[in-house]
Formats: sequence, structure tokens, C-alpha cells
Amino acid sequence: MQGEPPADLRVETRLAVLGRGSHEPGQPLNVPIVPASNFRAAPGGVTEREYSRDDGTPGWEALERLIGDLEGGPAVAFSSGMAAIAAVLELLPVGARVVVPRDSYTGLRGLLADGAAAGSRWRSRIVDMTDGRELIAAVADADLVWLETPSNPLLQVVDIAEVARAAAAAGALVAVDSTFATPLLQNPLDLGADLVVHSATKSIGGHSDLLLGLVVCRRPEDRARLSRRREVAGATPGALEAFLALRGARTLAVRLRQEQETAGELARRLAAHPAVGRVRYPGLPDDPEHARAARQMRGFGTVLGFELPDAATADAVCGALRVISHATSLGGVESTIERRAKLPGQEHVPAGLLRLSVGCEHVEDLWADLSTALDVRPPS
Ligand SMILES: Cc1ncc(COP(=O)(O)O)c(C=O)c1O
Repeated sequence: MQGEPPADLRVETRLAVLGRGSHEPGQPLNVPIVPASNFRAAPGGVTEREYSRDDGTPGWEALERLIGDLEGGPAVAFSSGMAAIAAVLELLPVGARVVVPRDSYTGLRGLLADGAAAGSRWRSRIVDMTDGRELIAAVADADLVWLETPSNPLLQVVDIAEVARAAAAAGALVAVDSTFATPLLQNPLDLGADLVVHSATKSIGGHSDLLLGLVVCRRPEDRARLSRRREVAGATPGALEAFLALRGARTLAVRLRQEQETAGELARRLAAHPAVGRVRYPGLPDDPEHARAARQMRGFGTVLGFELPDAATADAVCGALRVISHATSLGGVESTIERRAKLPGQEHVPAGLLRLSVGCEHVEDLWADLSTALDVRPPS
């Protein structure tokens, strides 16, 4: 029988070898999909795995092992990124004070607004994370500081270590939605955060074919509380989704490498295009987020934003694209684009901003598609 892989492997290798099944000869390399809710129980005793909502499935556990290893803490998988976010917020007492970035995934603020409407489940304070003084002042009065870095869709980058220091002094927890960075580009627990959230629906899964979320914890007791939340609230990942997320994660490093290279090239070309206003990509040296991103991240990610004069021009460009899909989600092998200001709660986003998630297509095909579409004028 082969032994367990050594502990000191590089990230590309860990993606390939961790979260595997038994090393016994004759066993499959991949942890099989176990489509089971119910397991045989020992009469008169408690069996380790009796019911999957309570006790998990081998597939979730394999994914949790891999992502937990990459982030440096125990992980809990949920049915979606939003279920993971909701589980973190449910760790807080009623009336807890939550600091939230103005630029962050719309679902987070929708959840907090519903909680406030239902009678102060949480008291949230929305903060412009680019204003360091406003942020640090808000942290002093918080129970939980929520960060999303880089943020969706403005690609703002927050200094996690600085916020974590201020939060520790104030006795506040720090949770980081690190979906845009993936576990490969930054590790918030190493920078002092308490919890890391991923929507694995995006780059970890990487193929736009599943919904799944994960929380990775600094403290084992938070893992226990989150898995209890999953059990009682029932936000469990599907067996097929966990299998697909793990299979997608196997290629995360190669996809990211390719997609980031293309994203950087497209950002440079868009910045030089006469029809395009501001380009937002932390990898551009003159981007206001560049220095912070270069300090904190191991790459600049696969998402960029660029501004056109108005909503009508941006909508016309989306309609003229033939390779890049006009679609709301991101992080897949296929490039997607969306005008985020069309969504409720995105009033701070410039009307003509397009968010582009760069996939694995050839850079020249993407550029031909974009540059042709940029010549299109909106109907007058
Ligand atoms: C940054 C970020 N966090 C969380 C989510 C929510 O994830 P899910 O759609 O898997 O619930 C999204 C979805 O777009 C996202 O972009």
C-alpha cells in the first residue's frame, strides 16, 4: 500500500493529491459520490455516520480537507456561498454590530437588511473601505468586521492585517470573503482574520455547474459551531456538487495562471482604448489598489472592471459580444461580463461599469471580441 503524501508539498501538488480516498489497493483515486441520506446504524449504539445532514458525507469531507489545508484551518462546506455567509452571521448574538463594506456582494447586504427589518437581528454599519479612517473608527465599535477583498465589483483591496489588528484590539471578529482571491492568491487566516468564506460556485468549482460555499476557521470551536449551524439549518452541499467542486479545484492553479495572465493583458489593452474610461484591475501599476494587492496577494486575480460613458453604451457592448457570455456569475473557464449597476443595491457602482471575469479562452479571441464590441454605438 502507498503511504500518505508528505506534508511539505507545493500548492499545485496539494491541489492534485489531497482529498483523495483510501490508499488501499483496489480503491478509487477519487472519493466516490455517495448519494445517501441514510446509513446503517449499529443497534443499541451510535454509529459515526448515520444521517448525512448531521454527520456529513465522504465527498464534503474530502473537499473540506483540501480547502482547509490550503487556507490553514478547519473548513465547513455549505450548500452555497450565501449559506456559508449566513452561517457566519448566525454565530453572532441578536443585535450584534456588523461592519460591512459598501462595495461587497449584494447578497450579504440583502441578508443583513432582512435581518434588520425582522427586528435588529444584526445592526450593520456600511463603510467605505477605501477610507482607512472611517474603517478603523467603525471597527472600534463592532462585534464582527466583514471584509471582501478584492471586492465585487469595484475590485477594492483592504489591508486584512491592519484591520485584523484593529479588530483584535476592539475584541471584534474578522471574516473575509476571499472568493475573488481563491485560497491560492491570499490566506486571510495568516493575516489575522478569524474566518474565511469562499463561494466555491466561482473559481474553486470553475465550470459554472454548481453552487457551494465554504467557511475556513482559525479556531476549531468555530468549526464545531458552524457545522452545528449546518446541521440544524440544513444548508448542506449536494453530493454531486461536492464532487464537482473538488474536481474543479484540482485544476485551480493552472486555470488561475492562464486567466490572470489574460486578465492583465486585457486590462492593459482596455486602458489604452479610446472608448474606455477607467479600468479597475489591481494588477495595473497605476491602479489605486495595486500596492496593497502586491503586498497581500500572490497574484491579482481573474476579474477586472472597465467603465464606458453610460449604461446604454455598456449594454450595447454586452449585446455585441459573441465570445464573452453576458451572464451574472463569474470564475468559470468561460469569460463572462455584466453591468453590475443594473442590480438593486449597487447605486455606488458607476452606471457604465462592466465587470469582466476572464476565462481560459485565447487572449486574442477575447480581445477581438471586446474591441469589435467597443465600436458598437447604442441605438439613439
Ligand atoms: C464575492 C461573492 N461572495 C459570495 C457570493 C455568493 O455565493 P453563492 O452564489 O455561491 O451563494 C458571490 C456570488 O456571486 C460573490 O461574488
